[in-house]
Amino acid sequence: MADPSAATKILLPESEMPTRWYNILADLPAPLDPPLHPGTGRPPAPDDLAPLFPMDLILQEFSPDRYIDIPEPVLDVYRMWRPTPLHRARRLERALGTSARIYYKYEGTSPAGSHKPNTSVAQAYYNRKAGITRLTTETGAGQWGSALAFAARQFDLEIRVYMVKVSYDQKPYRRLMMETWGGEVIPSPSQRTASGRRILQEDPDSPGSLGIAISEAVEEAAGRGDTNYTLGSVLNHVLLHQTIIGQEAQKQFALVGDYPDVVIACCGGGSNFGGLAFPFLHDRFTGNAPKAARVIAVEPAACPTLTRGVYAYDFGDVAGFTPLMKMYTLGHSFMPPGIHAGGLRYHGDSPIVSRLVKDGQVEAQAYGQVGVFEAAVQFARTEGIIPAPESAHAVKAAVEEALAATREGAPRTILFGLSGHGHFDLSAYEQYLHGRLQDYAYPAEMVAKALAELPAVPGA
Ligand SMILES: Cc1ncc(COP(=O)(O)O)c(C=O)c1O
Repeated sequence: MADPSAATKILLPESEMPTRWYNILADLPAPLDPPLHPGTGRPPAPDDLAPLFPMDLILQEFSPDRYIDIPEPVLDVYRMWRPTPLHRARRLERALGTSARIYYKYEGTSPAGSHKPNTSVAQAYYNRKAGITRLTTETGAGQWGSALAFAARQFDLEIRVYMVKVSYDQKPYRRLMMETWGGEVIPSPSQRTASGRRILQEDPDSPGSLGIAISEAVEEAAGRGDTNYTLGSVLNHVLLHQTIIGQEAQKQFALVGDYPDVVIACCGGGSNFGGLAFPFLHDRFTGNAPKAARVIAVEPAACPTLTRGVYAYDFGDVAGFTPLMKMYTLGHSFMPPGIHAGGLRYHGDSPIVSRLVKDGQVEAQAYGQVGVFEAAVQFARTEGIIPAPESAHAVKAAVEEALAATREGAPRTILFGLSGHGHFDLSAYEQYLHGRLQDYAYPAEMVAKALAELPAVPGA
């Protein structure tokens, strides 16, 4: 029999696909600070969230259960592309001349080209089950919107996507993907909602941001009984649905008799990061594993939420419609520079990921986009796959980790999440390849201004 540790692609059969999501809330060393209603300062009751989300998802958001069964109709759609491959990056290792072993879990094999369908399929299913017929959402890079358009089609739902204007203009092909699956796409800020009109009055040329697009999508869903809102990241139930990634990776490592020393993933709102890393943190918390992996969340230097933000209660959106969440934030009015990793341009972060960083369970690193694209091109030229700009942040951190291991002359097993392919991001590659890509300095003044506008917590 062939030696499994010599494999380049480590594949799980469909029969080995995990059938439960892992809920890290059951294992956090200390309980999470609850979300707060901005008016009363009290945690919202499940019914307060019912205008936006189906009850199954609301219950998952607060569930204390360690595992939650994945419904069969969701598993059935997952089987279209899951389990996803774990690759050993042998060609990249050779190019780096490293003493490290580098693995990557590739989520770009999904129909939409990223990890996002792991939760969009689940969210579409639970909304359909609750009798909802329309969904709204926001999208940055277009990855989440296309994932939701694909999932909505599977469960026969209509969708409207508010797409951050800078991405709408840069990424017409993502819009066309959404439209091909039957979705309607509106550039945000738009004239369709009061929150969009307010922003346009202040700045008719606003490039938009995820925070504004969220306000628009929430406003519309809150105003219609047949329509619910869906979020592609940040919330606990979204990270929960992504944990199938890390659970598969654990099984794949067992097949080759290896285990990571370091787990690395890019972090926008935290869903790709949580999906890959939380099952490995579970191993650490329970002492279940051969070793405790270090875990690193990677973000852009131009939107450095975890590395330069403050840990405070803030709104998830610009207009202040969402509950207050305790998280690392750059201030909800912070407008990030128009970097190409559109999915990492978010002022806040998942409350769970934020808490883990605050408690020192998770490390955070930030890189400028020029260095990130340099690593992405090296990866494309060795491993073949062209990474999404978001995922390329993890490539960069993995390369740095491998070089550090080499300098120390130490073996090191590195796992990183390659959350998506960059086939619709080639204009960014064009800029890099022609020397036109620029780094942005840390926007200290904009952050200071946004932080000065942090909301007061009622009763605090
Ligand atoms: C390919 C890819 N990776 C990562 C992200 C970051 O989002 P999150 O932090 O929720 O995984 C995005 C967001 O759009 C994305 O498209």
